[in-house]
Amino acid sequence: MKTRSVITRPYLDQKPGTAGLRKQVRVFQQPGYLENFLQCIFDNGGKFAGETLIAGGDGRYHNLEALQALIRVAAGNGVRRLVVGRNGLLSTPAASHLIRQRAAAGGFLLTASHNPGGPDGDFGVKFNTATGGQAPESLTRAIYKATQSIDRYLEVDLAPVDLDLTGETDAAGMIVEVIDPVLDYADLMVTLFDFDRIRALFAGGFTARFDAMHAVTGPYAREILCHRLGAPPDWLLNGTPLPDFGGGHPDPNPVDAGNLVALMNGAVPPDFAAASDGDGDRNMILGPGLVVSPGDSLAILAANAQRIRGFRGGVSGVARSMPTSRAIDEVARKLGVPCFETPTGWRYFCNLLDDGRINLCGEESFGTSSDHVREKDGLWAVLFWLNLIAIRGLSVNEIVQDHWREFGRNAFNREDFFIPDAELGGRLMANLEASAPGLCGRMFDGLEITEADVFAYHDPVDGSISAQQGVRVFFDDGSRIVYRLSGTGTSGATLRIYLERRVTEPGSLCRPAVELNAPLSAIARELSGIRELTGIEQPVAIV
Ligand code: G1P
Ligand code: ZN
Repeated sequence: MKTRSVITRPYLDQKPGTAGLRKQVRVFQQPGYLENFLQCIFDNGGKFAGETLIAGGDGRYHNLEALQALIRVAAGNGVRRLVVGRNGLLSTPAASHLIRQRAAAGGFLLTASHNPGGPDGDFGVKFNTATGGQAPESLTRAIYKATQSIDRYLEVDLAPVDLDLTGETDAAGMIVEVIDPVLDYADLMVTLFDFDRIRALFAGGFTARFDAMHAVTGPYAREILCHRLGAPPDWLLNGTPLPDFGGGHPDPNPVDAGNLVALMNGAVPPDFAAASDGDGDRNMILGPGLVVSPGDSLAILAANAQRIRGFRGGVSGVARSMPTSRAIDEVARKLGVPCFETPTGWRYFCNLLDDGRINLCGEESFGTSSDHVREKDGLWAVLFWLNLIAIRGLSVNEIVQDHWREFGRNAFNREDFFIPDAELGGRLMANLEASAPGLCGRMFDGLEITEADVFAYHDPVDGSISAQQGVRVFFDDGSRIVYRLSGTGTSGATLRIYLERRVTEPGSLCRPAVELNAPLSAIARELSGIRELTGIEQPVAIV
């Protein structure tokens, strides 16, 4: 074992408490940079010596080099066994499952999620604890603090370990176990869904496409959809993981997966389409001419959960991130189960899942999951929808419209404004926070603001408080505007404006959300003061 001195300070320009480290690839390529960060985790994450850890990534550029560094540092820190996905691959939900299944002390997920890959793209490392969930804020703060003073890391001298074939290698006393990244996850899915019904659906003339966006879900979809459920190979699009994701942006949203939207709006669309992101935790569901809004998808899954094998015990409670549409609140009311509103980020759901208070949750950013893992899960959501279609014998569009007729619709969309100067973005948000209490009673064309606040979350499980999680503005017709700054960008600031309007008149139920929310959008921009402060007029994306 060698002790090396540290020359980099990896976390210093990141917000304390941020889950994981996400930077440009070339930052990660600095000698000792990743090793230094890993050592801070080894020194603070619990007892790893003599334990098992899980490791894998989304296949992006630098994945394999980073894994070799992790192998050297893990062996240097006395880890007994490191379980690695073949070719360095593991989707985020599959890694979460493996941590739990193997009773591992934790796992390293090498991914920058939906951020672009390649030499000029981004790279990232997340650490998940023995629960399978992301490191809690107390731990990420401790890791942050450690990066300020750490002056050495431990590693062994090792030739690169072959990760192309399954099997075990002795790496200076640590066993590196290379496993098939897909099998355990696929076996878990078999226990949650009715594969016979889905197979019968596929065999009966139903048509579908799944876009893996050249990221990690390709091999998962091939095994589950094609091998186990009998889907023809051409249903799988972009199924080979590539280091630069084929030059695309592996995020399943109507802009970055525009090819699927075009397909579904085309002359002969398949019955169903879906996509997942870089590390396999996000999902987008489409029917002919329709992208299912993630908030609607979450509400629909909740309303239909009792039909699905994985929810045999019923829905214990649900949760959504604060900016996510309140469609699921309507369902929770009807089911008579609690509905929690948490800050953005999956980790806030994990306490509720571990405590048994909820078993279904989701975010507006195309993330949904249940208590089968402690991460959001893209393919799980796709299988849920396919299972539902198979059971109900209805199309995607019929299921959505049926839901709106029963519960009403929360028409939702998001506008993202990129502000190159991060400091200016911070000032804009501070202004909004300061002005929120005074907004009450303001009128806009007959719409009145009934309440406005800065969202703070009191975790009911551990009692912790997360303050300043976004500004909420409520209107007298049930509409809502939410403002927050993105926490996942690697430069500048991105202001996210979330618009939501409650619609119940049958004639308006199917109108496009952007059209329904146009008046709210104008109000939101005016209240934000973005034009006056930054000169920026237009969002970079409307989702
Ligand atoms: C975004 C999403 C958020 C999600 C996160 C990680 O974070 O908005 O819902 O949990 O990515 O996938 P943001 O950039 O908004 O901070
Ligand atoms: Zn992701």
